[in-house]
Amino acid sequence: MENIKDFKRTDMCGELTAADDGKDVVLMGWVQRRRDLGALIFVTLRDRTGIIQIVFNSDTDPELHDKALGVRSEYVLAVKGTLKRRSPDAVNKNMPTGEVEVIASELRILGKSETPPFHIEENSDANEVLRLKHRYLDLRRPDLQRNLILRHRVAKVARDYYDENGFIEIETPVLGRSTPEGARDYLVPSRVHPGKFYALPQSPQLFKQLLMVSGFDRYMQITKCFRDEDLRADRQPEFTQIDLEMSFVDVEDVISVNEGFVRRVFKETLGIDLPTPFKRLTYNEAMTRFGSDKPDTRFGLELTDVSDIVKTSGFKVFADAIANGGSVRTINAKTAGGSFSRKEIDALADVVKTYKAKGLAWMVIEEGGVRSPIAKFLSEEETSAIINRLNGEAGDLLLFVADKDEIVFDSLGHLRLVLGEKLGLIDKNTYEILWVTEFPLFERDEEENRWVAKHHPFTSPMDEDIEYLDSNPGRVRAKAYDIVLNGYELGGGSIRIHDQELQNKMFNLIGFSDEEAKERFGFLLEAFKYGTPPHGGLAFGLDRLVMLLTKTDNIRDVIAFPKVQTAADLMTNAPDVVDAKQLEELSIETVTKSE
Ligand code: AMO
Ligand code: AMP
Repeated sequence: MENIKDFKRTDMCGELTAADDGKDVVLMGWVQRRRDLGALIFVTLRDRTGIIQIVFNSDTDPELHDKALGVRSEYVLAVKGTLKRRSPDAVNKNMPTGEVEVIASELRILGKSETPPFHIEENSDANEVLRLKHRYLDLRRPDLQRNLILRHRVAKVARDYYDENGFIEIETPVLGRSTPEGARDYLVPSRVHPGKFYALPQSPQLFKQLLMVSGFDRYMQITKCFRDEDLRADRQPEFTQIDLEMSFVDVEDVISVNEGFVRRVFKETLGIDLPTPFKRLTYNEAMTRFGSDKPDTRFGLELTDVSDIVKTSGFKVFADAIANGGSVRTINAKTAGGSFSRKEIDALADVVKTYKAKGLAWMVIEEGGVRSPIAKFLSEEETSAIINRLNGEAGDLLLFVADKDEIVFDSLGHLRLVLGEKLGLIDKNTYEILWVTEFPLFERDEEENRWVAKHHPFTSPMDEDIEYLDSNPGRVRAKAYDIVLNGYELGGGSIRIHDQELQNKMFNLIGFSDEEAKERFGFLLEAFKYGTPPHGGLAFGLDRLVMLLTKTDNIRDVIAFPKVQTAADLMTNAPDVVDAKQLEELSIETVTKSE
């Protein structure tokens, strides 16, 4: 193989333009493609900035031409030559460097390549499993390179912005104790303490609060978090947070400094000015209007409550749901009544059933009447009151779910997203960003029949709701907020409890005895005894932010070496078995559970 002795790269492939006409250049990169036209060989050379055409001419340099004949896709080359404008008829408008080409005078083959298992190109349609096995090749593709470069920019903006606003980046441990974010922990066995385990952090939550006790005032960190939970298109077992915490603040202070960050990111990466202030919805409003605490507000199709109209209805499904404390809510899928087939409506019923709804009642409004399997159960007054409330017109399709509120919201909220896609109502070129505030402090764990913290147990109740902590925990709202972008939860946080007594009460309410609380979080409670400032913070999901900025719906597209659905890394084959000796050192024996 040849080397780069006395060769110094002058330019990057994608950055040369007609203004460089006549320049002597040395370029280095990979062969995208070689085209052989007899006397001329064209090689497109690729580096991370783009591609450029190199010309080898047998008339002027037969030896060099012969050497170029031996070049294959993905070979690594160094090329010396002169940059020339192409003649007007040879300009390639599809290529950013299509106005120019390099007439080669010297070629060195720095590295050969076997035929890669898939063609390396933008928007590859090669199987993702194959691409992930050879991720180092996949990462040569321009779209993935752009994503990771943008990710770098976002991280840079974060460090700059928070630094300018007085935040200090501080690293927190990866080997630690279990944190209370609510997912399953990844555990690491200790060799020195047989039978004991570290937990990888689900977030730096407790450490960042301790840093406030220490007086750092404003902390930020770009940090890996680990959660052993079921994976989805927007979830990875290890992911990155832009994590921050501030002292002497309330909700508005946290919101305003972070709104500034999101605006800055959009401006610096996409050139977009997001309007301020961002919209706000309370949790209650988000649920009743959109059936979701992370509503996609790029389109309408809002939910409408018709419980009062049908509570005494002859349709028992409706009346019973309300009698049992639930509700009946409706979406008017405008125009879909005229266009959806019976089969398509049945498919919508399957959607709500995956979210535990027992069925989907529907009503097509037609000129002079309605078509509906439940029409016979409803009185004329009920039917016309429903149509009036939903501003129904001929051609509309009304869709109803009756159940406990939780199921009604979840199922209609997801149905709304499906309808938005199906009816083409979602403008993929807009960004709709909002804060969801006033989350409930608790949620009910039906299985264990107890209250659990909805965010985490350090979240402060709203001042005006503290009085209901004992009498009616379900109505207590929290000083918690999420930031939502196009239907994705981009980040979330809260003002924390800084009063030791209130913190103890919170632990008791969620079923920790004083001893248990002391055992798990004793160091935090102890720290709080020595002068704790009021504090609060937030964490953004960096991967999700970059996903949205790059308009991909696959989180793996913005992570260099991601894991698949089963939390495995297909390239390195992690996780894997380890030597018996390693296990012995850790005092661990494995037993394979039979099903
Ligand atoms: P939370 O659990 O809401 O809050 O996490 C903050 C943000 O992290 C992102 N995120 C994920 N991204 C990819 N894969 C995952 N598995 C994953 N899980 C979460 C989301 C989410 O909004 N300590 C608190 C923050 C605080 O209170 O300050 C916390 O971790 O974008
Ligand atoms: P049934 O009388 O059970 O056949 O139901 C009549 C219609 O009501 C069907 O279209 C069902 O899908 C629908 N349905 C059943 N249960 C519910 C429910 N809980 N909410 C809304 N619609 C329902």
